[in-house]
Amino acid sequence: MRHLSVPSAQTQQWLDICRTQHWSSNEAGVTHLEDGRNAIPLNDSAPQETDQVWKNNPHLEIETQPKGPTHWLDHIDEELAETHREDWPRSYEIQGDVLIVKIEETVWDYGEMIADAMLTQLPNIRLVCADMGVKGEFRVRELYPLGSRDGTVETRTRIRESGYLLWVDPSKVYFSARLSNERIETLASAKLLCGKLGHPLVVCDPYAGVGPSMGALLNEPGLLQGYFVGDLNPDAVDLLSLNIEYLASRRKDKRGNPAAPLHPTELHCRDALDWIHDTNNLNQTDLLLVNLPHHSIEHIETLLPLLKRNQTSVLRGWAIVERAEREESEEAIHRAISSANGTVEQFTFKEVKGFSTTKSFMCFEAWINLSA
Ligand SMILES: C[S@@+](CC[C@H](N)C(=O)[O-])C[C@H]1O[C@@H](n2cnc3c(N)ncnc32)[C@H](O)[C@@H]1O
Repeated sequence: MRHLSVPSAQTQQWLDICRTQHWSSNEAGVTHLEDGRNAIPLNDSAPQETDQVWKNNPHLEIETQPKGPTHWLDHIDEELAETHREDWPRSYEIQGDVLIVKIEETVWDYGEMIADAMLTQLPNIRLVCADMGVKGEFRVRELYPLGSRDGTVETRTRIRESGYLLWVDPSKVYFSARLSNERIETLASAKLLCGKLGHPLVVCDPYAGVGPSMGALLNEPGLLQGYFVGDLNPDAVDLLSLNIEYLASRRKDKRGNPAAPLHPTELHCRDALDWIHDTNNLNQTDLLLVNLPHHSIEHIETLLPLLKRNQTSVLRGWAIVERAEREESEEAIHRAISSANGTVEQFTFKEVKGFSTTKSFMCFEAWINLSA
């Protein structure tokens, strides 16, 4: 196929020209050449090499491989694919090298075939699991292995989020990659609070799961002084410990040197509501995260004594609320703060996503000052 060879720094500019003039071919991609140039595939309507439009950039003949399938369904027999057109899974979730997919009953018998097709299409996936729904006290998904690249069906895996790695295990611990924006906003609020207080923060994340919020906070140079973290699910605490150890070991100060040791460093498998029973934990926290969306609001009052008094502190949490009861939920948060002798300096309560036809998944953030 005829290609236009251009200096690699000009690739985008020439791609734009070729696309707008309808001279580029979409039967092949850009080829990197050995001499620091790139080759853009051209179609038959592109002018000849001698045309001045090419500004002396040469044309080359390069043999191209036809583009392969672009979707896992392309690996399934065409007639079968067509017969069940409406039933095949339309989306899936990936955590590390594990793919999780909901399979309709009508195509359940083709589960292994679906997994094979997905493993063929997606080279970074090791294991394909069917999502059988949420189960148990810790609302963890039941997964059924449909196909494995290497025979292993272990669901523990490692994901990358915003520049750091986290161990996760979708069959044992809750984790949602879709909420990474919330972690970015938690970090933004923490940086503002740190700026306002003029010192690094002590954070308390008593429903930490595998610790994704701690990932964002520990990764920020100079932001944290220490932490109180935990979860009631022992499997979550195993992964949380691994993640915190890794994240803490690579902490840097603002100059890029290894950071001073953290203090406190409390990590426990415990009910969040029990943290207050140890008086050493009271009045220690600058930033409190409350992430048990079905119960967050009712837990706030018990957790507030963990926050420092006579200074600004931040309560940030997530709650699933009836859309029709949004105001009542907001009032309940304010009531909990008042009953802890707190005044609210700033408050936001906004929808992160829909949860069901009548419920919303909301984030609340209160900048508060608890008097002694
Ligand atoms: C919605 S998840 C949030 C996990 C984590 N913060 C995240 O963003 O991925 C709620 C977590 O709270 C834990 N949990 C449930 N009840 C708890 C309780 N009473 N005390 C502490 N943790 C609890 C669950 O095991 C789960 O890991």
